[in-house]
Amino acid sequence: MEKILVIGCAGQIGSELTLELRKIYGDANVVATDIKPADKEITEGGPFEILDVLDTHRLFGTVSRNKITQIYHLAAILSGNAEKKPIASWHINMESLLNVMELSRELNLSKVFWPSSIAVFGPTTPRQNTSQFTVMEPNTVYGISKLAGERWLEYYFHKYGVDGRSIRYPGLISHKTEAGGGTTDYAVEIFYEAIRQKQYECFLAEDAYLPMQFMDDAIKATINLMEAPADKIQVRSSYNVAGISFSPKEIAEEIKKQIPDFKITYNPDFRQAIAESWPQSIDDSVAQKDWGLTNSFDLKKMTDVMLKEVGNKFR
Ligand code: NAD
Ligand code: SER
Repeated sequence: MEKILVIGCAGQIGSELTLELRKIYGDANVVATDIKPADKEITEGGPFEILDVLDTHRLFGTVSRNKITQIYHLAAILSGNAEKKPIASWHINMESLLNVMELSRELNLSKVFWPSSIAVFGPTTPRQNTSQFTVMEPNTVYGISKLAGERWLEYYFHKYGVDGRSIRYPGLISHKTEAGGGTTDYAVEIFYEAIRQKQYECFLAEDAYLPMQFMDDAIKATINLMEAPADKIQVRSSYNVAGISFSPKEIAEEIKKQIPDFKITYNPDFRQAIAESWPQSIDDSVAQKDWGLTNSFDLKKMTDVMLKEVGNKFR
């Protein structure tokens, strides 16, 4: 029986992935942790601990005491916030991964999941249908930390046999937990403001195309990757995953179909330059071939669910 540790369970992904893992592996077999308190659904639905992933001693203690076999390490500082505190963010993003990889090696864990990002690409990367293997010269502290993390994952696999697996998530869109300081956050915020105010001031330009994915598809992809036989995982750095590409103008048009008086204005800030350095669309054919990646949400389907679910929160 696998026993799973989730680090960063209170975040945008962790708050949904933890619940899905508990459905699959059983509530008692998924230990949820975060440096801050999480939703009641998580803290009361199974084991929960406050844990700072940088506290190596406590991390080892939690893993040993709970007889953990797999780790999902989701704690990180995302692109927008990382630009405000580069050195502290580098420290959190890198030291946390090295702690988890060292522990996985020493305690011989069966698998580790650690997410990378489209932020590994940079201004010299071809921006359309960006390949799995291409030029990678990120110019954000977040992107540099994700690219370094991918290299460490591959290193630990070849050198020590640690079975680390990873997805380069595009921007993730969800209604359960608000996004945590990234460049793609506008595509979550826009739904909240459309419901609350019928207007939104976007921090990216109207034509800032970025790859995005609805959370249900991201979670399905994560679990499929983790459950795939090890010999199917040919990419030991991180897999491209595409989802859907759209611009702020296009998502606003889709929202207007349901809220005709919704208004969007544009006031691009420092995150516009980050968006311009990232791909506009992604080629995920390697993930499709290796472990059967599929996506089921397009812009319309995603907008329908987001407006309904965010609307329910304010009813
Ligand atoms: P988030 O900011 O919503 O959640 C991160 C969680 O980590 C938070 O709950 C935070 O409290 C916790 N955390 C921070 N420092 C910690 C520490 N020292 N010890 C323990 N926990 C700590 O982020 P998210 O959107 O859920 O992202 C999760 C992972 O996925 C990150 O690695 C992120 O880079 C990656 N990712 C996210 C997206 C996206 O669009 N959400 C896209 C690409 C990659
Ligand atoms: N959504 C993330 C960010 O914008 C991409 O990794 O930081």
